[in-house]
Amino acid sequence: MRNIKSYELRELYLKFFQSKGHAVIPSASLIPENDPTVLFTTAGMHPLVPYLMGQPHPEGKRLTDVQKCVRTGDIDEVGDASHCTFFEMLGNWSLGDYFKEEAIHYSWEFLTSPEWLGLDPESLYFTCFEGEEGIPRDDEAASIWKSCGVKEDHIFFLPRKHNWWGPAGMTGPCGPDTEMFIDTGKPKCGPDCSPACSCGKYLEIWNDVFMQYNKTADGKYEPLAQKNVDTGMGLDRTIAVLQGVKSVYDTDVFEHILATISGLCGKHYGDDEETTKGFRIVADHMRCATFIMGDPKGISPSNVDQGYVLRRLIRRAIRWATKLGIPDNSLSTVADAVIDTYKKYYPELEKNRDFVLEQLQKEEQRFQSTLKKGLKEFDHISAKLEGTVIDGPTAFRLYDTFGFPLEMTVEVAKEKGLTVDTEGFEKAFEAHQQLSRAGSEQKFKSGLADTSEATTRLHTATHLLHAALRKVLGDDVEQRGSNITAERLRFDFNFGRKLTPEELKQVEDLVNDAISKNIDVTCEEMTVEEAKNEGAIGIFTSKYGERVRVYTVPGVSKEICSGPHVHNTGELHHFKIQKEQASSAGIRRIRATLD
Ligand code: ALA
Repeated sequence: MRNIKSYELRELYLKFFQSKGHAVIPSASLIPENDPTVLFTTAGMHPLVPYLMGQPHPEGKRLTDVQKCVRTGDIDEVGDASHCTFFEMLGNWSLGDYFKEEAIHYSWEFLTSPEWLGLDPESLYFTCFEGEEGIPRDDEAASIWKSCGVKEDHIFFLPRKHNWWGPAGMTGPCGPDTEMFIDTGKPKCGPDCSPACSCGKYLEIWNDVFMQYNKTADGKYEPLAQKNVDTGMGLDRTIAVLQGVKSVYDTDVFEHILATISGLCGKHYGDDEETTKGFRIVADHMRCATFIMGDPKGISPSNVDQGYVLRRLIRRAIRWATKLGIPDNSLSTVADAVIDTYKKYYPELEKNRDFVLEQLQKEEQRFQSTLKKGLKEFDHISAKLEGTVIDGPTAFRLYDTFGFPLEMTVEVAKEKGLTVDTEGFEKAFEAHQQLSRAGSEQKFKSGLADTSEATTRLHTATHLLHAALRKVLGDDVEQRGSNITAERLRFDFNFGRKLTPEELKQVEDLVNDAISKNIDVTCEEMTVEEAKNEGAIGIFTSKYGERVRVYTVPGVSKEICSGPHVHNTGELHHFKIQKEQASSAGIRRIRATLD
């Protein structure tokens, strides 16, 4: 076995599969595009679902990549040796090309060949699907392992719970799998100890899924038009094995991040159990939060969907940072360490560094003062409590007034030997939502979903402004936010300094020039690739083949957008910039109106 660093494993994996005719594709966004059933990309196959379902991929039938993933189901377990919310998955795919035979041979060669990972075959164990009604036992996979030289007693047949993978969301491609385990050298936990048990003797490092089925919304399994292979190897875990350490946090991946935390609090990872747990939580949560905010589709902390998961991660990190003695408002130093660790592989982190740090600082400022007040309130509550259960309305008050996510209340309660009535919390939450619903419906009518003439005109003006800014300030300028009301537009973009009065005038003149030329606005549907080739700007997704709308003001602007827009720029009459200011570090904000 070779002692391999994380960057070497990334490179070796891609190189190996390239040598087997696979095209290397980039990691897709952490925010899934066509799957409303999940918040985050949870596996390498997730962004590839359309291709597993039969759509041709422009890079061919053999693909490989390192995909960033988030799984938050076990967020409260983070702090132990193995759980992480963010991870990277190394994967290779056959889209209707090779199947079990090659897939297993490739896995075997990569794991055991001295040229690649050089793992001792004696230390490897394998599981295969034991079958169930209608789906036979996977003797084929087992016999292929045997043909590689695997001994009979290193192969186990297990049921669906262990050896079936997918779909990633509620529906989609799935199938039986064969998993690869390494014997960590720990003693067996009992006579029945096998890769099926979670005692930690056998550690799963790779999974080859034979995707032959599509699970439909009504729970049926239909055979897929093509037989695919989908594999996933956890980078951190495999590195831990290769480096002979007990936890993913002890690998080179976390070295700089843990050292940074140590520098901030003066304690050391490994000092004692509680400190180690704190280091792990802060390191994991800050890594995950940094990747979510630094994604090309960057998310900000909020109270819904991905934004809420992000808020939970940051707030839990803040509480543990405070416990460790990290000074207030210094988590951005940890985020910086995360960005520095990963920027070579995920350039979006460097590109969005200012946004990440800004969002983090804002969230820290928002929460830090209420955290302390909330913890004091918690002491009052527990002192006065009769019994050991914190009721729903009290938990809701901690959420509503002090910003405590429910899970944090549960965690703090647990530390004090108390529990929380989480159902009661949900009830109190719903009652509150009903009260505020009337208010938000009002807001919806007058803002977000407004497609009145006034907002449509401002929407087109935003495209003209975006194009003018790029002309005057350079093509690095990109939209970072847009908000339109019936009265004005507000446009955020990346730029490092205040605009001069001359620049503002130039921008304004360019927009008014386009307006005075009475240009017809056209709209076409095309694929993202075609839009890119035509020089359209806007949010590009990494997915090929997807159709988008492109609005063009010929000679001025071409932008991916869902609309609506005016028919002719003349409808905008006259454009005026009202204000230009900083919105956050590296981001400027313009407010403008139309007469
Ligand atoms: N999609 C499979 C997994 O996540 C490879 O384990």
